[in-house]
Amino acid sequence: MDPLDESARLLAAKYRVTAWFYDLLDAPWEHLYRRWRPRLLADLTGDVLEAGVGTGRNLPYYPPAARVTAIDLCAAMLRRARRRARQARCPVELRQEDATRMATIADRSQDWIVATFLCCVMPDHLQPASLVQFQRVLRPGGRFRLLEILYSHTPHIRRRQQRLAPFVEHVYGARFDRTTLRYLEEAEGLAIRRTTYLKDDTYLLIEGERVA
Ligand SMILES: C[S@@+](CC[C@H](N)C(=O)[O-])C[C@H]1O[C@@H](n2cnc3c(N)ncnc32)[C@H](O)[C@@H]1O
Repeated sequence: MDPLDESARLLAAKYRVTAWFYDLLDAPWEHLYRRWRPRLLADLTGDVLEAGVGTGRNLPYYPPAARVTAIDLCAAMLRRARRRARQARCPVELRQEDATRMATIADRSQDWIVATFLCCVMPDHLQPASLVQFQRVLRPGGRFRLLEILYSHTPHIRRRQQRLAPFVEHVYGARFDRTTLRYLEEAEGLAIRRTTYLKDDTYLLIEGERVA
């Protein structure tokens, strides 16, 4: 097994456990996220790939004009996403698939890629591989929208994040110090078009498109 497979396997194992209480644990934050999710998804049309769908929190907010393929590494998370997939206003197909490989997703097949809180979970050395896949599966001109969490530059917010960091990494595999933006800047064939903080300087929405 190569190192990429091993990291993915460890993360999937973590989420097999976390899946049991994910929605409960995330509830205080979801209070905030549920205000953003409709805004992130309201204008999406065509073929949409959601990477790292988790328990399907975004699924109720896709508009009828979208056709969603939602992937996740962890079967236990996907099982929990089923109910929300049934409640969606558009067709949703759930698939167990690794975002760094996307073996079942065809080249140039997607109009959009959406990922919320995926890259902060993905180990740094796997991020370039997932961006190669984003570029491969997006149609030319296809767009992406990623929502990530970062360390704040404001001392009291950062201190709070630092206190939470061991718990967040242990339970979610997430870190506040991932350098997703840098990987995106370096990624072949992907261009960042806009970055917007949704709260303080911690929740960053990154929007862009496939340019080659
Ligand atoms: C923090 S959760 C976010 C879930 C959901 N997007 C949300 O906004 O609530 C991260 C999810 O990404 C999945 N994940 C992590 N690495 C992945 C990978 N390489 N490929 C696909 N899914 C992955 C995890 O299994 C988990 O369900």
